[in-house]
Amino acid sequence: MRQKIIAGNWKMNNDKEETKSLINSLKSISFSKDVKVMIAPSYIHLSDAAEMLKDHKIDVLAQNMHFLNNGAYTGEISPQMLKSIGISKVILGHSERRIYYNETENSLKQKIKAAIESNFEIIFCFGEQLSDRKKGKHFDLIKNQLKIPLFHLESNSWKRIILAYEPVWAIGTGETATPNQVQEMHSFIRGLIKQNYNDDLANRISILYGGSVKSKNSKEIFSQDDVDGGLIGGASLDFSEFVKIIESI
Ligand code: 13P
Repeated sequence: MRQKIIAGNWKMNNDKEETKSLINSLKSISFSKDVKVMIAPSYIHLSDAAEMLKDHKIDVLAQNMHFLNNGAYTGEISPQMLKSIGISKVILGHSERRIYYNETENSLKQKIKAAIESNFEIIFCFGEQLSDRKKGKHFDLIKNQLKIPLFHLESNSWKRIILAYEPVWAIGTGETATPNQVQEMHSFIRGLIKQNYNDDLANRISILYGGSVKSKNSKEIFSQDDVDGGLIGGASLDFSEFVKIIESI
């Protein structure tokens, strides 16, 4: 049985009061024990979030991190710093970091390695641009996005990996991939893991979908065979919308 996961990526949203208020609202809900709920507030509020959720089953994720534990890297945050405030889960490879901060397959390989060495759990994001899909290159592109950062890992390290397919053209656009497109890609991804490792590992990896997931489309997307949950952006900022999405899995 694969773990079902709903993770809210808050991106650069919510000030201190908004962060506390949304966390308090989420704490008041009792979710099904079959689903793992995670939230990724901004860096500056991670400490508050970790403290508020210390004895709660909602997990807190960082949205990014450096691959070194310390050094002259102005503005960066290290695995060790996160660990020191009780955070051991991180999103890596989000398309916004690839596009605006030039993250590449090679820099992500370093980050994944550091995260595994520091015993982090990782939500690894990847996804094609619309132009890649229009040219029919989306499967090759996804294969390459996974190969360099992940396929050198030994199978044991995959216990720490959650995959998140997020087609760039569906992020924040209101344009969701159809359930068939999502299932087709998720099944392709599971197939790649089978080829590079084995059936058992492929069948254990949770693969999330992200890109304009709302309560009105979540049930259909989550009901696809190879979809194990969602990485939710905009809709995770709205308490009742996020709760409806969690309840739809
Ligand atoms: P939206 O749900 O706002 O499209 O964002 C998806 C996303 O990028 C989650 O990481």
